[in-house]
Amino acid sequence: MLQLDNAVLIGRGLHRECYLHPADSRLCVKIVVAGNSDENRREARYYSRLAARGISWDMLARFHGLVNTSLGEGAVFDLIRDGDGSVSRPLAGYLESAELSDANSGLLRLALPALRDYLLDNRVVTMTLKSKNILLQKSTGGVGRLVLVDNVGNSDFIPLSHYIGWLGRRKILRKWRRFENDLRAQYLRNEVLKEILSPGQAR
Ligand SMILES: Nc1ncnc2c1ncn2[C@@H]1O[C@H](COP(=O)(O)OP(=O)(O)OP(=O)(O)O)[C@@H](O)[C@H]1O
Ligand SMILES: [Mg+2]
Repeated sequence: MLQLDNAVLIGRGLHRECYLHPADSRLCVKIVVAGNSDENRREARYYSRLAARGISWDMLARFHGLVNTSLGEGAVFDLIRDGDGSVSRPLAGYLESAELSDANSGLLRLALPALRDYLLDNRVVTMTLKSKNILLQKSTGGVGRLVLVDNVGNSDFIPLSHYIGWLGRRKILRKWRRFENDLRAQYLRNEVLKEILSPGQAR
């Protein structure tokens, strides 16, 4: 059993806490702290489908299975770090700050459409896309990418979009459009974002 009692807490969402893996600094362990732990299982099933398809993990934190921990069941993932070794920060934090958006505008301009293309190319279906669940992984030298760390898969009772390619892509595009609209609404005054997002798709 993995002892997490003294493990470093990296982040916390509405449902889970994310700890540094005590034995491997390249990994993190997520513990469900609110709501249903079935969520871990559903997610694990979807990740095994993705692994079986041999997708690229360039913009999705790779899943390494469920483990028993001192805090209950844990889900192990790649820990996303910047080139300087610090844990990558959510896109939300960058977009909330005019200074950070400006300083990273070139990077953001490339990284947003690249994530969309990645999801489509690898047919990675998501639930609601949120900027707190997407990390901006900065390498050294001003380059970087967005990496999705949460809300992957589909909560539909019968997830047809997992089985039928065009349904999957249609769902991904719909989620992406909604994501862009949410970003526009959430960060109304972010000038960098205004330039990046295609103007005024009302949907
Ligand atoms: N693979 C990762 N690498 C680095 N940091 C991570 C990783 N996964 C999660 N985090 C950090 O931990 C936070 C919480 O993790 P996560 O989003 O999985 O929790 P959650 O409770 O499921 O979130 P939500 O509130 O969206 O349901 C994230 O917002 C992020 O800052
Ligand atoms: Mg989250």
